[in-house]
This record gives sequence, structure tokens and C-alpha cells, in this order.
Amino acid sequence: MMEIRARTVIKIIIVFLLMECVLCGFQEYKNLNQKRRSIRSYEPRSKDHSSTNSLYKESNQGAVFLTPNSSTIVAQIGGTAKLPCSVRKFNTGVVSWIRKNNLSPTILTVGLGTYIADDRFLVEHGRHSQNWDLVLKHVQLSDAGTYECQVSLHPTTSIFIDLKITEAVAEISGAPDLHIRAGSRLRIVCRLRHSTEPPAYVFWYRDHRMINHDAGVQVTTDKTLSILRIDNLDPSLSGNYTCYPHNAIPAFVNVHVLNSTEEENPAAMMHNASRILQTGPYNMVLLLSLWIALSLR
Ligand SMILES: *[C@@H]1O[C@H](CO)[C@@H](O)[C@H](O)[C@H]1NC(C)=O
Ligand SMILES: *[C@@H]1O[C@H](CO)[C@@H](O)[C@H](O)[C@H]1NC(C)=O
Ligand SMILES: *[C@@H]1O[C@H](CO)[C@@H](O)[C@H](O)[C@H]1NC(C)=O
Ligand SMILES: *[C@@H]1O[C@H](CO)[C@@H](O)[C@H](O)[C@H]1NC(C)=O
Repeated sequence: MMEIRARTVIKIIIVFLLMECVLCGFQEYKNLNQKRRSIRSYEPRSKDHSSTNSLYKESNQGAVFLTPNSSTIVAQIGGTAKLPCSVRKFNTGVVSWIRKNNLSPTILTVGLGTYIADDRFLVEHGRHSQNWDLVLKHVQLSDAGTYECQVSLHPTTSIFIDLKITEAVAEISGAPDLHIRAGSRLRIVCRLRHSTEPPAYVFWYRDHRMINHDAGVQVTTDKTLSILRIDNLDPSLSGNYTCYPHNAIPAFVNVHVLNSTEEENPAAMMHNASRILQTGPYNMVLLLSLWIALSLR
């Protein structure tokens, strides 16, 4: 008798949880549909935008330059800046790049030649191409400013390009201290901020040793982040972990590996269990199986 009543109570709870699942699933479906609709309603506007763009180009047909005037280029310290200057066909005339300083303008390049004694500057121009881009290697903070691309027609005509310089910095989430239990997995994410080009490499150090190629260490790097993974941590792996991208200011984090002798916290485990039940995608399947198991008895 008691057993039957207990079973009924459990069944009622299951029905309640199932209804909740269905309701929250329905809500998610509605949200998704709303998102889809808002994406669709955005499409025609983007088409309008492209058509105004082509109108703009047509009205610009007679111009000497294909590159928009007063554009801004961003480059990072140590990187390479490419200042565009695309020129429509002209019969005579030479393309020059000039640095606009406050004091006096400096001629950088004339035609294909570099005029100043700084071999970081060069002009990139293909034989039949319209591009006369100025390439500046090993960018420094002092290179920021306005550059003029001048065509010596009569009268001379110019466009101006602003060069802004950023300094790339690495950033580790969770820094400066990371507490982690022995036996678990260490995962450090090092993100690059203000970078305009990907790093050629990222070195990871524990204290003063490079560990990229150590056994048990996995490093994956892409354009803007590098991730270090170490499985099965032990206390000897505590230390100062530094992420050194080749072209950015490094970041570090102090990793403290804790002994795993502490008692598991039952309250925390209960919390985890209830979270899985609330948010797991398979909770409906789980509950239905439970229902069937109970009914079969
Ligand atoms: C570009 O803008 C500057 C002023 O900012 C102007 O003097 C120059 O004539 C413009 N160049 C062209 C090709 O319109
Ligand atoms: C960790 O190492 C980096 C690079 O060697 C250093 O700049 C930083 O001061 C160190 N941090 C600590 C807390 O020792
Ligand atoms: C961790 O355990 C080791 C021995 O297993 C012991 O030497 C060390 O002092 C312990 N550290 C802490 C913080 O309890
Ligand atoms: C609870 O889950 C988190 C991850 O969501 C895990 O890091 C933690 O160890 C779990 N706690 C317990 C007591 O199982």
C-alpha cells in the first residue's frame, strides 16, 4: 500500500518535470523563431545598402583615385602596415608618397624608388596594376600620422591616409591567480587584444622554462588566441605560467595546484546534480525512461 502511494507521488513529480521541459522547450523554439524573423527582416536593408554603394562608385567615375580619401589604417607595433593608393590609368605623372609631419613634409617614395634612407619603406606595384601601395615594415609608435599619396598631374592631386598604431597585448582570463585541484586539467586561455596580424608563434613558459614541447603539454594557437592544456595536474606543476606571443606584450598567471585530499563537498555535488537535471538536453528521455521503469514493476 505504502509502496503504491510512493510510486504515485514519484509519477506526479515526473509529470510535473515533463511539463516543465515541454514548456521551456516551447519557449526556446519561440525565441529561435523570433531570431530567425529578425534576421530575415534585416536582409532587404543590406541589399539597399549595396545599391547605394554602387551609385557612389558610378558618381565617382571621373576621379583619379580609386582609394577613398582620408581612410584610416591600423597597424600594430612590430607589424607591417600597408597604405593603399589605387590610381586610375594616367598617361604621364608619377606617384609619390609623402609623410606629413608638423614641421616639414618628408618624401618617402617616388615612382618605384624609395627616396629616404629607411629601408622599412617600399612601394608595392605590379607592372599593369593600378596599386601603388606603401608598405611599411617593423612599424613603430612614431610612424603614426598622415601620409599623402600624390599624383604629379597638372595640377598635382593627392589623397591622405591616416596611420594609427596599436600595441598588441596578451591577456589571460583568471589572472593573476588560478587555484586548481591536483589530478584535474589545466586550461589557460591567452587572448590577444589590439592585434592587427596573427602572431608567428606563441611561447608558453612555466617560471623560466619554455614548455610548449614538454610531454603532457598541448598548445593550440590561432589568429587571436593561444590555449595551453595540461591533463592530470600534479603539485610540482605549480608556478608562474607566461604566454609570450612574438608580437605582443606577454601575460602571466600564477597556477596553484592544490592537493586532492580534501573531502568532496556533498552540497556542491547535489547542486551539480540538480543543475544537470534542469539544463541537460536529455532530461526528457531520462524522465520518460524512469516512468517506464516504474510502470513495469
Ligand atoms: C582629399 O582630402 C583633402 C582634404 O582632406 C583635399 O585637400 C584633397 O583635395 C582630397 N583629394 C581628392 C582627390 O579629392
Ligand atoms: C611571472 O613571470 C613574468 C615573466 O617572466 C614576470 O614578468 C612576472 O612578474 C612574474 N610574476 C610573478 C608573480 O612572479
Ligand atoms: C600536498 O601533499 C604533499 C605530499 O603528498 C605534501 O608534501 C604537501 O605539503 C601537501 N601540500 C599541501 C598544500 O597540503
Ligand atoms: C560541479 O561541476 C563543476 C563543473 O560544472 C565541476 O568543476 C565541479 O568539480 C563539480 N563539483 C562537484 C562537487 O562534483
